[in-house]
Amino acid sequence: MKIAFIIGTRPEIIKMSPLIDEVDKRGIDYILIHTGQHYDYEMSQQFFLDLELREPDYNIGVGSDSHGKQTAVMMDGIEEVLVNEKPDIVLVQGDTNAVLAGALVAAKLHIPVGHVEAGLRSYDKTMPEEINRMVADVCTSLFFVPTEETALNLLFEGINREDIFITGNTVVDACYRNLKIAAKNSRIMSQLELEGDLLSLTLHRAENVDDRQRLENIVEALLKIKGLTIVFPVHPRTVKTLKNFGMYSLLEEAPHIKMIKPIGYLDFLILESNSKLLMTDSGGIQEEAITLDVPCLTLRYNTERPETVEAGGNILVGSRTEKILESVSKILEDEDLYRGMKEAPNPYGDGTASKQIVDAILNAYTQGKLEIKP
Ligand code: UD1
Ligand code: UDP
Repeated sequence: MKIAFIIGTRPEIIKMSPLIDEVDKRGIDYILIHTGQHYDYEMSQQFFLDLELREPDYNIGVGSDSHGKQTAVMMDGIEEVLVNEKPDIVLVQGDTNAVLAGALVAAKLHIPVGHVEAGLRSYDKTMPEEINRMVADVCTSLFFVPTEETALNLLFEGINREDIFITGNTVVDACYRNLKIAAKNSRIMSQLELEGDLLSLTLHRAENVDDRQRLENIVEALLKIKGLTIVFPVHPRTVKTLKNFGMYSLLEEAPHIKMIKPIGYLDFLILESNSKLLMTDSGGIQEEAITLDVPCLTLRYNTERPETVEAGGNILVGSRTEKILESVSKILEDEDLYRGMKEAPNPYGDGTASKQIVDAILNAYTQGKLEIKP
């Protein structure tokens, strides 16, 4: 049995890592295909080191480009590898262009696709990620979904119940596995000389950072936040647009804001755990916040992670200046609200998602179900 893992960006490396470890531990043959969508040291190599992953067997080296060109180059590269390697299953994770390219190519070669974090829906088709998720799920044979609510999305789309596995999210496995290592090894708090109450911020979603007005509104809110030190590891996409719109130096010069390069996973786990609040438009960070018991404010108007909001750990604040500022003040002033957010139950499982996923793949393989028939 041979498994091909497809990864391309920071969150895929992190969320696939416990699954790769599990496959490795069980002595199953596997190959790692990196599309090269993320290529800066801080966005890729750093995570291989932190998570002690072996180097990818293939790197397609796609780099940055328009969606069409990027997806086409990835498909071309992935197809060549899959034709030569003939894996029994291809695993993709999440909703990036690598997921779209990998799932599409594998399905057309009649290689079954296992989609880790399948079934999420924001119901917002302006998001490239929503298109990627939906197309990938058309190509998928085994659906590994984090929650019952996600399973329902797929059932409503007509997917067979026996092909859906409710496993929790591998983000929890990664958090639990790495938090102790991080506590021992990370020096981020002393390196950054952090004091007082921290708000850790990430921002990279296209609809926020590529839209001048929305970015301006968010920047205005950040400049006006009081009583918190904001730590902001800035995604390269956001560096680019902040500079293009002339907003980078406004943030850099604000005394309560620390702008830094993206940091490693171990350091980021420690930063998150030591934060009073997280503010983000990231998918993975909404999940990590509720796993680490840190209240989260999400700079979006919808989320494909509604469980975090329903559980009470996450509030969607959108991108309007006043709403962001009101929400921060309210959480800091209302102790009951703050405690309630911290204590929100984690909907994403108990950290055994990777084990459950590998069990399901092995079962399907031994029962001869890993075959795509007419
Ligand atoms: C991608 C994913 C998004 C995911 C995010 C994780 C898609 C459509 N988007 O968005 O779902 O949440 O990764 O972080 O797949 N850049 C660099 N160095 C890098 C990578 C990117 O400088 O190593 C810059 C380039 O200017 C590039 C821009 O960032 O044009 C955007 O990168 P891209 O990979 O297209 O999308 P992300 O915003 O990273
Ligand atoms: N992360 C990190 N360093 C950083 C910022 C984020 O290690 O400086 C990790 C974070 O812990 C989470 C993942 O990156 O696991 C989220 O990735 P991102 O926000 O880029 O993508 P998304 O989850 O939105 O697809």
